[in-house]
Amino acid sequence: MRLTRRSFLQVSGMAGMSAVLPQKGSHAPAPRTRTQLIASSLTQFVDPLPIPRILQPNGLRPSPSDSSSKIPYYRISMRECEAQVHRDLKPTRFWGYGGSVPGPTIEARSGQGILVEWANDLPGKHFLPIDHSIHGAEADKPEVRTVVHLHGGRVPPESDGYPEKWFVPGQSATCHYPNRQDAAMLWYHDHALGINRLNVFAGLLGAYFVRDEFEDSLQLPRGNYEISLLMFDRIFDLASQLNYPVSPDPQKVWTPEVFGDAILINGKLFPYLDVEPRKYRFRLLNGSNARFLHLSLGDGHRFLQIGTDQGLLPAPLEHDRIFLAPGERVDLVVDFAELNGKALLLNNDMLPVLQFRVGKNASKDPGVLPQTLRPVSKIVESSAIKTRTLSLVEVDDLKQRPVTMLLNNAHWSMPVTENPVLDSTEIWELVNTTDDSHPIHLHLVRFQILDRRNFDIGAYWSTGQVKYRAPAMPASAAELGWKDTVRADPGMVTRIIVKFEGYTGRYVWHCHILEHEDNEMMRPFDVLPAS
Ligand code: C2O
Ligand code: CU
Ligand code: CU
Repeated sequence: MRLTRRSFLQVSGMAGMSAVLPQKGSHAPAPRTRTQLIASSLTQFVDPLPIPRILQPNGLRPSPSDSSSKIPYYRISMRECEAQVHRDLKPTRFWGYGGSVPGPTIEARSGQGILVEWANDLPGKHFLPIDHSIHGAEADKPEVRTVVHLHGGRVPPESDGYPEKWFVPGQSATCHYPNRQDAAMLWYHDHALGINRLNVFAGLLGAYFVRDEFEDSLQLPRGNYEISLLMFDRIFDLASQLNYPVSPDPQKVWTPEVFGDAILINGKLFPYLDVEPRKYRFRLLNGSNARFLHLSLGDGHRFLQIGTDQGLLPAPLEHDRIFLAPGERVDLVVDFAELNGKALLLNNDMLPVLQFRVGKNASKDPGVLPQTLRPVSKIVESSAIKTRTLSLVEVDDLKQRPVTMLLNNAHWSMPVTENPVLDSTEIWELVNTTDDSHPIHLHLVRFQILDRRNFDIGAYWSTGQVKYRAPAMPASAAELGWKDTVRADPGMVTRIIVKFEGYTGRYVWHCHILEHEDNEMMRPFDVLPAS
């Protein structure tokens, strides 16, 4: 095994915002088999878009941070379930939180903590192919292991869902989510070491909203006019069952990325949504294992972006398309007012995935969207006390197939190298030496994107030095809010600035392409107490 540099695919224009961005570099998608369902052959828009139910608490329990007060307690059981993803398909087996995919939506208020007991009530055998050569998934480990992470949550380390803190069927873990953070769309999903990609593919994900008074005061569309759209791609076989591809190499099971041709929205394929001719707020998540979404509305219809991963933007931005990497969320407002009686499509890569059917009568529209939303104060570079240069690397074998993805040439089990001090600010420079775009996510924190800058990969491999080839490009307007996941584009140094607020203890940072994350593209980091 040796380190190699594979053919570098130039990505032109505004990194990633271009519609011609290749879906992937040189990793050929697994060949389509004759037993695979061709999603585009299905009749479109015959099923209404399901709206995940809002979870109700199971009671009150003493707060772990202040036992004199009681906070809402929820219990969510992970179960095998069946769901029909399309009118003309048979029920599909899934693993879902609360027995549904996506799981139920959790609604929380900023500053008001909750407790969630996550119970593993899954069967003892996995129904997707485990690769026992992957770290953490060895044959002596139980097949079915789960641990839940609240993505985007500022959560104490013992409740963060550390990948090694998995538990098996019959066990549960109770997590404390203090919600001391701004209003935002978070999401919860499985994070078990070595099989995370399989557990999420099986259906273990759901939405979690933090609300606050500031957001309430903006009078954004809410209730029936605020809709979450949890999007994730899957592959189905001809029996309507999930088909997670294995490597064409008989020695291996792991595949570098999994792309499905079936894009589910809230668990349905090609759903439709009846809307009134007025403004709606849409909360989008890309919950795919590896697929980047390039979303637009039909007929070039424009829309407003009002938020990023970690909450509201300073002001609405108008777009005609949006780019969403795995793990990212976006907050949009679409105005259907001019579309009385018409239909509008939501497209991914120009292919329809959802149809809006605009009715003729609107209930009273609650006025206009505010011109300004939530101020985002820029973290100045000079406040950083440390800059870390961190490389993103692929390790290939002699057949030029990637076998592992690494952060900073380090494996998961190696000693911690990233150890910021609580409340300090750091700049992380993500040096992407691969030909893939990697969505890099840090637990615990929110951050801002500084810029991306093209560098000479060849020179980097021979000298270990970063030699820039072009001036830095600022983050795109769509990314200029608080983020927790950032696209590190190929051949670019992507710089983020992070204040490590919240808690001391052990967390993780990783690529959110779940196949990469499972195969070593994840590292622990420690937040150290200030001395
Ligand atoms: Cu959404 Cu560590 O993950
Ligand atoms: Cu996370
Ligand atoms: Cu990656």
